[in-house]
Amino acid sequence: MLGTDLVTALLEADHDVTGLSRADLDVTDAAAVDAVVAGHDVVVNTAAWTAVDDAETHEGDAFAVNAVGPALLAAACARTGARLVHVSTDYVVGDVPAGTPVPSDVPLAPLGAYGRTKAAGEWAVRASGADAIVLRTAWLYGAHGGCFPKTMARLARERDVLRVVEDQVGQPTWTVDVADLVVRLLAAGAPAGTYHATSSGWTSWYEFAMEVVRSVGRDPDMVDPTTSAEFARPAPRPTWSVLAHDSLKAVGVAPIGAWRLRWAEASDEVLADA
Ligand SMILES: NC(=O)c1ccc[n+]([C@@H]2O[C@H](COP(=O)([O-])OP(=O)(O)OC[C@H]3O[C@@H](n4cnc5c(N)ncnc54)[C@H](OP(=O)(O)O)[C@@H]3O)[C@@H](O)[C@H]2O)c1
Repeated sequence: MLGTDLVTALLEADHDVTGLSRADLDVTDAAAVDAVVAGHDVVVNTAAWTAVDDAETHEGDAFAVNAVGPALLAAACARTGARLVHVSTDYVVGDVPAGTPVPSDVPLAPLGAYGRTKAAGEWAVRASGADAIVLRTAWLYGAHGGCFPKTMARLARERDVLRVVEDQVGQPTWTVDVADLVVRLLAAGAPAGTYHATSSGWTSWYEFAMEVVRSVGRDPDMVDPTTSAEFARPAPRPTWSVLAHDSLKAVGVAPIGAWRLRWAEASDEVLADA
């Protein structure tokens, strides 16, 4: 989902781009990673095991993609001198108290198997000696993958009432905006470090669902609030996924705009085939 929009954004910014799908490169294959990194100035890793619930029962498989893969990419970049942009997640931060956006230097306390494997990926990248940017994002939606707004749009057409959790708060973020931020960080020559690629402001899944339902022309009152306890899932979910944009501001790179405005811009494209 993110990788497709990233290739588009890099091409539009006049970069020469090699976009690789999983069929082109298995990031857990060291020799293959070395071969493709050669000759590139910048490597952006958007590959991941993203099935959060399945990771609970397949942690070893998730670890291979989310930790070993970034370690191999970072080692190859360290050898060749290429910059690495590695995409990470709010799940590495853990279940922090609500109220204040989480700064980029927060100590990691990963949540669930997915969080543990992604945190291991971050540490591998930092330990590699590569010139690396760790870019954490969250609550992603986009035209090129399954995502929450597409599911809500479909259910809004099929059902009379939608029940959506109100006690998880975060920053709905468009893949196009993350891709644009990668382009801007590279153009700015941002120093190695950890940055947060999420929309500004915050909301609950319940409120976001109402916004999506409005976008498809249905009455937002069809959405009823529920709680995480009533909607149990195999993997734990963070209740406060609100990431601060402190390190972006410190290097003079503008954070992504307010989530509601960005959704207004994104909704037609994202829901085109929903
Ligand atoms: N989606 C979210 O809400 C969200 C939130 C926070 C952070 N992130 C992070 O954002 C990044 C992009 O996520 P996304 O939503 O774009 O996920 P996505 O659509 O699931 O893309 C991940 C890609 O990685 C590929 N992949 C899996 N194993 C691989 C391997 N061994 N070698 C090479 N490629 C492999 C997948 O291929 P297959 O489809 O063939 O398996 C898929 O194309 C990830 O780092 C993710 O952890 C996502």
